Amino acid sequence: MFNTLTAMPADPILGLLTKYREDSHPNKVDLGVGVYKDPQGHTPILSCVKKAEQYRLDTEDTKVYIGPTGSAAFNELMTQLAFGTDHPALLANRIRTVSTPGGTGALRVAADFIKRCNPNAVLWVSDPTWANHTGLFEAAGIKVKTYPYYDYDSKSLKFDEMLATLTQIGADDVVLLHACCHNPSGMDLSTEQWDKVVEVTRQQGFTPLIDMAYQGFGDGVDEDAYGVRKMAAAVDNMILCSSCSKNFGLYRERIGACSIIARDSATANVALSVLLYVVRCIYSMPPAHGAAIVETILGSAELKQEWLDELKVMRDRINGNRAMLVDRLKAKGVDRDFSFIARQKGMFSFLGVNPEQVARLQSEFSVYMVGSSRISIAGISEANVDYLAESIAKVL
Ligand code: LMR
Repeated sequence: MFNTLTAMPADPILGLLTKYREDSHPNKVDLGVGVYKDPQGHTPILSCVKKAEQYRLDTEDTKVYIGPTGSAAFNELMTQLAFGTDHPALLANRIRTVSTPGGTGALRVAADFIKRCNPNAVLWVSDPTWANHTGLFEAAGIKVKTYPYYDYDSKSLKFDEMLATLTQIGADDVVLLHACCHNPSGMDLSTEQWDKVVEVTRQQGFTPLIDMAYQGFGDGVDEDAYGVRKMAAAVDNMILCSSCSKNFGLYRERIGACSIIARDSATANVALSVLLYVVRCIYSMPPAHGAAIVETILGSAELKQEWLDELKVMRDRINGNRAMLVDRLKAKGVDRDFSFIARQKGMFSFLGVNPEQVARLQSEFSVYMVGSSRISIAGISEANVDYLAESIAKVL
């Protein structure tokens, strides 16, 4: 039966990893997959993570099954991190959280959960959105449509058009919003714009699904959760998918969380039972190691502070890289205005060059970025920025 298969194209993001690793160019630059890199181009293990891992190594006394909810302590601490400790939905006991294999696992759990709530629900995603969103939800049998979001010409939000589309969406559907650090555009909603989106969500009655993969990479842990908290305080139903891959640097440990907010505590219990059923049918139980690290960090005032400090270093470095690239492009005599890169947030921006230029950057200069010209800002460093700016200048 395998003879009937046709080969799938390489993943537009992950496919770059292999190509980059195989490239022997001495000045190659990796602006592909969204991972944090230090000035030496290395993705380090955070010091707070090392300490938490040591603690786990010393104290772990069983490898028995953890159960489909994952770790109760992790779930509670992640809920507090996302919503704050005194959020009204938390105080009303309306939130249920399960640990998941990464943010992608959280999204897949959410997708199957939505399918059980309403098999005909349409999921609306921003145009553009993370390359894996559409495939992931379609794989769960959910129809995906887009709402306007990023204006490639003006490098800004199409906010009025976004709002106009949202006001056409009915109560049976789900709208996916990025909490912060929009992937791929780096263009976030302002707090005023969030307020308007929350208002329209309430008025239309659709279910918001917020994807928070970069909490702490925009302006700060609490600042980045503005939309999540505002939305959760205003609506009856909401889904939050969060990831510990980037902000804890736990990429390969695969740890994230899926939270459901329901109208009341009794409905939340029913929703949790459905979540657990869905989890059991996909992967049975989440991995435990990443959750144990995160709960050790968040559960200790000292380690949590160390984590917040290390997160700030990563955030500041990325923001510094944004300004540095804009400056160096100017210094290389590029007269196109790239200042938008310094105004955007998080790991990504679109460079705004065309597909042929992206291909030339890769084949002639060994500069790797996604075909859409999405660049991972963390891949820029003092050591490669001049070569990068020169290469961009040459293809423009
Ligand atoms: C990215 O967008 O580069 C990251 O979220 C990694 C991934 O899985 O695509």
